[in-house]
Formats: sequence, structure tokens, C-alpha cells
Amino acid sequence: MQIVFGIDFGTTNSALSVYRNGKVEVIPVDGASSGGELMRSVLYFNEENEIYTGKEAIHQYVTDGAAGRFMQSIKTFLPNISFVSTEVFGKRFTIDDLVAIILRKIKASGEAHVGCTVECVVLGRPVVFSMDAAKDAVAQQRLEKAARKAGFKNIWFQYEPVAAALAFEETLHAGQERTVFIGDFGGGTSDFSVIRVKGGAFARSDRRSDVLSLGGVYVAGDKFDSQIMWDKVAHHFGRYARYKSMGIDDWHCIPKSIIYTLCQWHRIPLLRARKTRELIRVIKGTTDDHRAIEQLENIINDNFGFFLFQAIEKAKCELSDQERTLIHFAERELLISEEIGKVEFESLNADNFQQIATCIDEVIARSGLMPSQIDTVSLTGGTSRIPYIQTMFAARFGWEKLENRDAFTSVVYGLGSSVPLFV
Ligand SMILES: Nc1ncnc2c1ncn2[C@@H]1O[C@H](COP(=O)(O)OP(=O)(O)OP(=O)(O)O)[C@@H](O)[C@H]1O
Ligand SMILES: [Mg+2]
Repeated sequence: MQIVFGIDFGTTNSALSVYRNGKVEVIPVDGASSGGELMRSVLYFNEENEIYTGKEAIHQYVTDGAAGRFMQSIKTFLPNISFVSTEVFGKRFTIDDLVAIILRKIKASGEAHVGCTVECVVLGRPVVFSMDAAKDAVAQQRLEKAARKAGFKNIWFQYEPVAAALAFEETLHAGQERTVFIGDFGGGTSDFSVIRVKGGAFARSDRRSDVLSLGGVYVAGDKFDSQIMWDKVAHHFGRYARYKSMGIDDWHCIPKSIIYTLCQWHRIPLLRARKTRELIRVIKGTTDDHRAIEQLENIINDNFGFFLFQAIEKAKCELSDQERTLIHFAERELLISEEIGKVEFESLNADNFQQIATCIDEVIARSGLMPSQIDTVSLTGGTSRIPYIQTMFAARFGWEKLENRDAFTSVVYGLGSSVPLFV
């Protein structure tokens, strides 16, 4: 009996499905308690170079008072060819080493569940890792290498929104045909496909001709968090601070690149570069917002960006269900309490939503169909919970065509359903 795993290695969350005896099952990967189906795609290294993943990583990081090195959104680095490796407490890790740690953990959870070694896997990949074809190829190669390091021997790839479509297909009666627009809104990417599905088509071999179009953008949950940071929080860290450089009496603005990096929290450690630190020290000497620059130094040195961004993400998620909320953060002598409204959130992110809208329209156009010829719009991924995203689809297709799939497991379920296409 052949057993194959489906692994959705996500920017924010990862998940596992098992294909055996022609059936697909989603398996908890991070303990049995709430949310165990998913594992946060995070790593934590303490100073003894012990490595933790998922819930344990977050717990240990908090317990250690953020002393070690915490990493999130690792998937985002896959297409970044200038990021080859990173040193953690004197040990060098390539990007595929880091991904392999997460995949190995998921593989072990799955093997404990099925009771044997499993060497075959279908991995999800976004439609677009990068607009640059060479970088896109590098990203997939790195993911494949990581899977090999984790112990997989047979490795296949499936597009994440195609996987979501296959999960949708299983909800149809035998013979029932639909043309669906799939929107998968995750943490790092928003991925789209227009695909023809048919109930009972589970084991049909080649599905390529059913995919009418594919597309994606690098705008998803993390971008919305960054935008909130930029507009609502970054002023606490000197976004508007000015300073005078040696011997010249004019005011300078703090370099935008510093604030921009600060707004992508997984990149904050890059601000530890010696040159940047020196510049910040110079700025601190003459700035008109001394307190903010001190906070900037603190967030870089103490590594508390993770907690700050958790507060931001929490506020963002609350705005999916309510009109207003507070971004609240009270730690390390820093009190941030910023009110934010849903309408305000939407207007701050107008550019981001516009990029998504453009991509949606391109994917529809490339399918050769009019929106009226598409039967169903199926939305999945955590970010699909944002009401404005649903409104964007309602404007194009009408509310009656919208359907929300399980936000967090339809991709991984569909990766399991993809197995007969490969083996
Ligand atoms: N209720 C909500 N409202 C808005 N955003 C949400 C909500 N719940 C979760 N999210 C966001 O969804 C994202 C995670 O979704 P998901 O787990 O589908 O992503 P992923 O699969 O890890 O990422 P990707 O597919 O891009 O690699 C996070 O950015 C999270 O903040
Ligand atoms: Mg995803």
C-alpha cells in the first residue's frame, strides 16, 4: 500500500494530509490541542543551538524572553537569490536547511500517525514565487532540496490554487460540472486559478487542460500587517524623526529604507548591520524625536518585532468582524495604543487591494471567459476573511456566486487529492 503525504508549506501556517487507500485525510501536525491541524511555519534557535518549530518555538521564544533567534515567513526568502544562508549562534544554515527543519518535523508527525516511513510527497507551491522566471525556478529547487534533506525521495509539486480546486471538486455530486475561480489568500501570496471541475473526477489523470488560467501576486496577509505598521505604528520608531548630520545645520529625514525594513518584521534583524547601527547612533545624537530613535534601537537589539507584529495581526483579524479596534502593545517600556477602523484599514491598503484586483482581472481575462461564464468563486486562505476581499469578488461576480471554503485546510486536502495525478 502506497502512502503519500501532501504538505502545504505556507508563509504563515503549514499543514499535512495523508493519501492512502484512495482516501485523503488531514492530519494534525502540531499537537492535538486547538489549532493542531496547522503548524505555524516558524523556527526558534536558542543559544545552545537547540531548534524548535511551531507552537514549541513560540513558547520557547517567549519563555526565553526573546533571547534566541526567531524566524518567520521563511517561505518569502525562497526566491531571494541574495539570501543564501544565515549564521545562527556560530552555525551556518542555508535557506533549504531552514525549510528542511520544518518539513522534517511535519514528516515525523505524519509518520507517527501512519506508523511507517513515508518517502513520497506532493508539495504545494504558489503560482508565482517570483515574477522573475529564474528566481521562481530557484525557489522551487530550494523547496525540493529541502524536501530531500527532510528525507523525501519522490517529490512532486502542485499549484496551491489548483489543489484548492480539487478540494472543492470533492464537494460536487458525480458528474456535476463547474467552472470555478479559486482565490487563495495566504500570508505571503495571493494565488488564483480558473479551473473546470467535475464531481467524481478524482482519479482522472491529466488535469492540465482543465486549468484555464493561473496567476498570483506577492500581496497577502504579511503586506497588510506591514502597511498597518507603516501608517499606524512606525511613528513610534522614528518614521518622522529628523536629524542633523555633522557640521551641517539642515534637518535630514531618517532614511526611508530603515523604516521600510522595520515594517517587514522578519527583516528587522537585517538592521543589525554595523553601518546601519552606526547611522542610527548618529541620528540619535541630534534627533528631534529622541525617544522614538531609542525605541528603534530597542526593537533592533531586543528582537521584539515578533510580539509587536502579533499585536498588529490581531488587530487586522479583528477588523474582519468589527468596525473598529485597538492595536495594543505594552511591553519593554513602550506603550502603543492606536485605534484603527475598518474603513481606514481599507483606505491604507488601497494600493495593495488594487494590485490584487489587477491580478484577478488578468486571470479572468486569460481564462477567455466572461465573469458570467464562471459558476462559482471559491475563496480560501486566512486572508480571504477580510471583508473587502469578498466585496471585490462580489463586485465582479455577484454575492450569490461566492463560496468560502475552509480557510486553512483546503489547499492541503487538495494536495492529497492530487496524488493520483502523479503516482
Ligand atoms: N480573520 C482574519 N482576517 C484577516 N486575516 C486573517 C484572518 N485569519 C487569518 N488571517 C491572515 O491569514 C494569513 C495566513 O493565512 P494562511 O494560513 O492561509 O497562509 P499561508 O498558507 O501560510 O500563506 P501562503 O499561502 O501565502 O504561503 C495571515 O497573514 C493571517 O494574518
Ligand atoms: Mg497557503
